[in-house]
Amino acid sequence: MLNLGHSDLIRKAISKQLSKVWHTLEIPSETRVEFMKELRKSFPSNMRSYKTMFGISGADACETAMNLAHSVSGLKASTVAFEGAYHGVHGGIISATAGRVYKTPVISSGMNIIRAPYPYEMWYDYDTNDTLSFLEKAVNDPEAGYEKPDSLIVEPVQGEGGYIVPPEGFLRALREFCDKNDMIMIIDEVQTGLGRTGKMWGFEWDSIQPDIVCVSKSIGGGIPLSLVYYREDYDQKLPTPFHLGTYRGNALALAAGTAVLREIPKYLDRVNSDGGNLQKRFGQIGSPLIGDVRGKGFMIGVELVENKKPLSKTKMLSIKHTMLGKGLLMHTCGHFGNVFRFMGSLNIPAEYLETGSRILEESLKAS
Ligand SMILES: Cc1ncc(COP(=O)(O)O)c(C=O)c1O
Repeated sequence: MLNLGHSDLIRKAISKQLSKVWHTLEIPSETRVEFMKELRKSFPSNMRSYKTMFGISGADACETAMNLAHSVSGLKASTVAFEGAYHGVHGGIISATAGRVYKTPVISSGMNIIRAPYPYEMWYDYDTNDTLSFLEKAVNDPEAGYEKPDSLIVEPVQGEGGYIVPPEGFLRALREFCDKNDMIMIIDEVQTGLGRTGKMWGFEWDSIQPDIVCVSKSIGGGIPLSLVYYREDYDQKLPTPFHLGTYRGNALALAAGTAVLREIPKYLDRVNSDGGNLQKRFGQIGSPLIGDVRGKGFMIGVELVENKKPLSKTKMLSIKHTMLGKGLLMHTCGHFGNVFRFMGSLNIPAEYLETGSRILEESLKAS
């Protein structure tokens, strides 16, 4: 699940930091300066002057990003989020997460969201233009019944929603829409970031410049760390204090993060070539259960169907157990829980890829 797995390199970085200091609160330190240098370098050159706000989890980063947008706009506004989106389950951000399963009547859902369609051609007949038409109505028709949004949050490839890759140009179209309508564009790179899709950041596939980027998961190499990377001019508009937390920017996590940021670029070519080959191989399995194989880099979804409907959860579980019995753990995701996802670490040994692919193939053929 983490992009560098149980890497010795990260263990060494953490051990080295542990021999110095492991908790500094948010004061400047060499560890932090080193991390910031690597972080800035990892973004396209037009984003190197952005500011950073640290957090602990992906949900924390996404919630902070949305609060940041509202503080910058100065409005009590809504945010556009998408069908199938997953941005975490904290008290506020859970409003932006789509799945009913994550929400119960007793969990507060305090943020104001406009839910927009995300192109998902397997089941729904809409594309980028349909999303744009919906947004045009929701944002600019005062009688449409939506509170005016000041921001939009989107995953470059949907993760928990089912490893859904939007059409090329989707993010670019959203960027243009945000520019036209004075909206802040937030990209959630919690899952897609740090090489997972074959580029350092998923938004780079569409060559856009987001206003705010949410980062977490792999950045701390297994030590809790998240951050919001945002336009420098936003800083002047934030109240003080804006975002606080004892463990933000923890020294151990930052040391691990520096190692992660230095290591990931070495794997990008591999992720693109092996990811492409894997996708082709999964597509050739030839089981009638396979409805779609899609993805980018090392983020590949295999969506299973039966009688033109999503494969039942019981059958998914049974296949999962079969694979587990043979030594392969594959998580599921998707609107209907019928997508097996490949999310191996970017440095996974080639023989594991081979063995895993074989087990998936055998298990699907036997089901
Ligand atoms: C795209 C995305 N955003 C946010 C989150 C929430 O991250 P966390 O579980 O660290 O709160 C996740 C978690 O899977 C995610 O995939």
